[in-house]
Amino acid sequence: MIRVLSVTSECAPLVKTGGLADVAGALPGALAPLGVEMRTLLPGYPKVMAALKKPNTVLEDPDLFGGPARVVAAKVAGLDLLVLDAPHLYARDGAPYNRPDGQDWPDNPERFAALGWIAAQIAGGGLAGWHPEILHCHDWQAALAPYYLRAHHPDARVGTIMTIHNIAFQGLAPVAKLPSLRLSAADMTQEGFEFWGNISTLKAGLVSADRITTVSPTYADELLTPAFGMGLDGVLRARQGVLSGILNGVDLGVWAPPYRTPTGKRRYKARLRQTLDLPEADGPLCVVVSRLTYQKGLDLLLDALPRLLDQGGQLALLGSGEPELEQAFRRATAHANVAVTLGYDEALARLLIEGGDAILVPSRFEPCGLTQLYGLRYGTLPLVAYTGGLVDTVIDASPAGLRAGVATGLQFHPTTAEALSRAFDRLCGLYSHPDLWLRMQRNAMRHPVGWDQSAADYKALYDGLTGR
Ligand code: ADP
Ligand code: GLC
Repeated sequence: MIRVLSVTSECAPLVKTGGLADVAGALPGALAPLGVEMRTLLPGYPKVMAALKKPNTVLEDPDLFGGPARVVAAKVAGLDLLVLDAPHLYARDGAPYNRPDGQDWPDNPERFAALGWIAAQIAGGGLAGWHPEILHCHDWQAALAPYYLRAHHPDARVGTIMTIHNIAFQGLAPVAKLPSLRLSAADMTQEGFEFWGNISTLKAGLVSADRITTVSPTYADELLTPAFGMGLDGVLRARQGVLSGILNGVDLGVWAPPYRTPTGKRRYKARLRQTLDLPEADGPLCVVVSRLTYQKGLDLLLDALPRLLDQGGQLALLGSGEPELEQAFRRATAHANVAVTLGYDEALARLLIEGGDAILVPSRFEPCGLTQLYGLRYGTLPLVAYTGGLVDTVIDASPAGLRAGVATGLQFHPTTAEALSRAFDRLCGLYSHPDLWLRMQRNAMRHPVGWDQSAADYKALYDGLTGR
């Protein structure tokens, strides 16, 4: 058994804003059969605290960044959780990172520094009876853990891994916060966590961790370039030797289509149309399940949409995010073949993926992306931008891909409205050839999207760090 402490700010099914939660929630189960005992350290938001049955206090800290805190151990939904109960930091209603008005909590740096601090304490031997051999940290919210471990527990023999799910979120804080984040001014350097005059907690993790991973091989390459590295590409190039990309998987137990063959989709498509009040149509029913942000390129979809609708296609979108995008999509519903649901709705997300013909992911950048993987598994063909994990998971219906009989979806490049419009032409063309479409659906449904390979890759990484 290898003992791993996974540190994350969200974890399905307890608290989720995006794919990080799915991945953090799935990793323990994916790795258990390989002899990995993973415990997950998570902030005690109200929703998380409410889900704990028989919590058992395993660690106490009378002064954790401004108030008393404790760590409680509990099993929930098959997860072996360590929950950081610190009411002064986490007992706030709503989304994990934002005030009710949508702004970030001003003390987010401290809230997540506290998570890293406790993670380092546990990794440093602070928990009686359970000493992790690996500290595996996800995104900026956990990124101070490897730094604190090195600074405050230098003798701990624990391998550290920093996983980047999205480099756009860098955990920036003004330099005035050095003392309140318990950071040493001596490390406010280019080699340390300084980033253009600010503190970057993500950078602290990137320079301190033994290994760095990200969530697809293509994104690992992209991160080394100025276009995708968002100012941290130099830091990553310097650490290229310890950086690797391990593709996310899908929890096949959670994402299990209620049909075995593509024809089984028909009744779900009918149910979806009925639910959303969409008429019958000749073209493909395209679905989107997404955060509505610049990253996701959905403004390009708005520009290219007429090309889909003109060819008899339909759009059903579920998402929430930037107010301008929400308004623009609301306006798009003036067309009878467009249905838009603003909000977060797991049941509707599932119905969209079950009933859609194609799922659209026109992202400007996409570290991995999960909805195209759900699409593959459900025979809902992914139409994706050629970037990041979307490159690694979809096989384009190019003439060669079709001839070889291996295509599982469509890719377009560059990420522009023009290229997306042309991809809609191709999509509608394929859809009008039921034999070709069916073949692609079969390929897609057979494409491996589970955790097997990636779990083995993480295990190999852990083995390398523990010297096994
Ligand atoms: P990201 O993490 O960048 O948002 P991913 O594709 O990795 O993108 O993961 C997004 C996850 O969040 C998926 O599980 C997706 O189904 C889910 N999701 C996104 N928006 C919604 C929504 N409005 N309602 C329900 N689920 C959503
Ligand atoms: C991030 C990325 C997404 C990835 C997810 C889980 O939110 O935007 O591409 O799938 O993390 O790793």
